[in-house]
Amino acid sequence: MEQSYKKLLENNKAWVKEQLELDPKYFSKLANGQNPEYLWIGCSDSRVPANQITGTNPGEVFVHRNIANMVVHSDMNMLSVLSYAVEVLKVKHIIVCGHYGCGGVMAAMENQQFGLIDNWLRHIKDVYRYHHKELDAIEDKTLRARRFVEVNVVEQVHDLGKTSIVQNAWKREQPLHIHGWVYDINDGIINDLNVTFKSTIDLHKVYHLD
Ligand code: CO
Repeated sequence: MEQSYKKLLENNKAWVKEQLELDPKYFSKLANGQNPEYLWIGCSDSRVPANQITGTNPGEVFVHRNIANMVVHSDMNMLSVLSYAVEVLKVKHIIVCGHYGCGGVMAAMENQQFGLIDNWLRHIKDVYRYHHKELDAIEDKTLRARRFVEVNVVEQVHDLGKTSIVQNAWKREQPLHIHGWVYDINDGIINDLNVTFKSTIDLHKVYHLD
């Protein structure tokens, strides 16, 4: 028990030593402030760490993670992260990154109760309902789950565009692109779904905020 926990602190010391050997000013530079170009909205899944899979370093990516990389418009945590990233840090890109084999998405396809988390999975089930014609037509369950992961990401890109935070940034002509990606845990490759939103025009007009 203790061993596995203490390992992390030992790793940390080794990592600090390694960084300082490469650059003695590594931490003092980072302590000066952050200026990340990207906001990452990803899944909490331990196999999808934003920095490692994109080859980025501390200071480069502002990160928000939750189960199944959801953009829920009543989630104060997500909205606070989004607001800070867009209005203060002025990130240029927001990336929603889902992943194949997502436990949250697969659980949302089932009818079993999982407890409190069912309230969160409900948002993912709503995505299934919007796309049920396409999804129900896919007989193979694994393939259906893969497509569900993809359409879920697309919906979260839309949901970001619907926020006043993003629309006001576009209104100010602040450069801000929203992307939808899916990471494949089977081979480590990220697939760009090419659903990039660059302005309010990319959204259905019922969501346009004047
Ligand atoms: Co997941």
